[in-house]
Amino acid sequence: MTTAQASQLTGLKHKMETREARIGIVGMGYVGLPLALLFSGERFRVTGFDIEPAKVNTLNSGGSYIVRILPQSIQEARSAGFHATSDYGEIAQMDAVIICVPTPLNEYHEPDLSYVTGTVESIAPYIHEGQLIVLESTTYPGTTEEVVVPLLENGNPHGLKVARGLDDAGVHVAFSPEREDPGNETVARHDIPKVVGGCGPAASQLAAAMYGSIFRRVVPVSSPSAAEMTKLLENIYRCVNIALVNELKQLCMRMGIDIHEVIDAAKTKPFGFQAFYPGPGLGGHCIPIDPFYLSWKARQFDFRTRFIELAGEVNIAMPHFVLEQIAAGLNDHGKPIKGSKVLVLGLAYKRDIDDLRESPSLEVIELLREKGAVVAYNDPFFPKVGRGRHYDLNMTNTPLDNLGQYDAVVIVTDHSAYDYKAIVEQSQLVVDTRNATKGIESAKIVRC
Ligand SMILES: NC(=O)c1ccc[n+]([C@@H]2O[C@H](COP(=O)([O-])OP(=O)(O)OC[C@H]3O[C@@H](n4cnc5c(N)ncnc54)[C@H](O)[C@@H]3O)[C@@H](O)[C@H]2O)c1
Repeated sequence: MTTAQASQLTGLKHKMETREARIGIVGMGYVGLPLALLFSGERFRVTGFDIEPAKVNTLNSGGSYIVRILPQSIQEARSAGFHATSDYGEIAQMDAVIICVPTPLNEYHEPDLSYVTGTVESIAPYIHEGQLIVLESTTYPGTTEEVVVPLLENGNPHGLKVARGLDDAGVHVAFSPEREDPGNETVARHDIPKVVGGCGPAASQLAAAMYGSIFRRVVPVSSPSAAEMTKLLENIYRCVNIALVNELKQLCMRMGIDIHEVIDAAKTKPFGFQAFYPGPGLGGHCIPIDPFYLSWKARQFDFRTRFIELAGEVNIAMPHFVLEQIAAGLNDHGKPIKGSKVLVLGLAYKRDIDDLRESPSLEVIELLREKGAVVAYNDPFFPKVGRGRHYDLNMTNTPLDNLGQYDAVVIVTDHSAYDYKAIVEQSQLVVDTRNATKGIESAKIVRC
């Protein structure tokens, strides 16, 4: 390493460690905004970038659009120098840029990297030597090297290259997966170890210095691909295990065994078992989507990821299984689905959060409507629901009163604000997909 480069790297690491570095975070969503607040809370000067003007305006006026982030937190960050912008020109002033934009699937169930490529193309003209660019969006192994690096190198007017060896001048690029678990209050964000894989040793060192200022533990891996694969392994592990318990739940129901009792007993084993719970299907931006990023990439290597496909098959079928259970419950009351009034409790994809992306509730509502049911919903987090990427419900929240008017009440999301005992007492029939009525004895309950 030349003396000049060594001192530049040392200087940049020092800036990270002393919090003098300016951090730009692109994508002010469920991942990027909390991360911005975390850096701001640690006295970094943070700029949030987003293409949605409404989000930029809300943040700059001290407001929040994510329920669990209070406006007060935004205001505190604002006082510490945080601001939001849609102007990519400000990228030039950043020492590090962290990209947290969506990575969905397209209509053919293939990776849609358009948000990542759009972002990288937008920032490339403004990158500068010594700057650190980190991708945090979940994606298939190879994205950073094969997609991000060429776009950065070809898109900047100064001919900047990505630094590989410690001796190289250039921009530093790394991948670091986001491991947030929305609504999980048991682990503080800075206690979640941060995995980092750089395109070169300098990138790894810089990223470790930056994240080391925030997270208690940084876990370096040898490459961006290893870091990308780490995130996918974690999510595929969950997806496969959830599919396993979803399948076993269906068997247990036929055998007259309570799967929840079995899981509770199995998890007393102090080693070799981790509890996963059955439900109405997968939801959220990660577990239903991320595994398919890998199965898509695997095809390039002439490889079939059979566990992922099988788990996907089982999990995708769960809303249909819920529909069958609703039909069976109504049938016991001498009623068809067609014309029955059904109240769906909970739209969010999991308890106590305001995120309905890929939520199984949406699928259950659509399936019920297709069969002619008259469907209403209640969810304290969503006053109304309109059109999304895969649905067009156009519904408003129904108050939780006069439950007796519904032929069936279906618990799809077990929000903790619900009084399940009262719900069972007031309803004609309760279909419980989450074991939310555990401990309540009533012939009105169908547990599935
Ligand atoms: N939500 C989670 O719990 C979670 C957990 C772990 C990983 N992830 C991953 O993190 C990534 C981001 O997810 P999210 O939930 O924060 O998504 P999100 O949709 O909540 O937020 C993304 C933000 O990026 C903005 N955006 C899109 N294109 C942009 C561009 N070109 N320039 C600037 N801003 C742009 C959008 O307006 C939006 O505000 C995804 O890859 C996701 O898989 C999410």
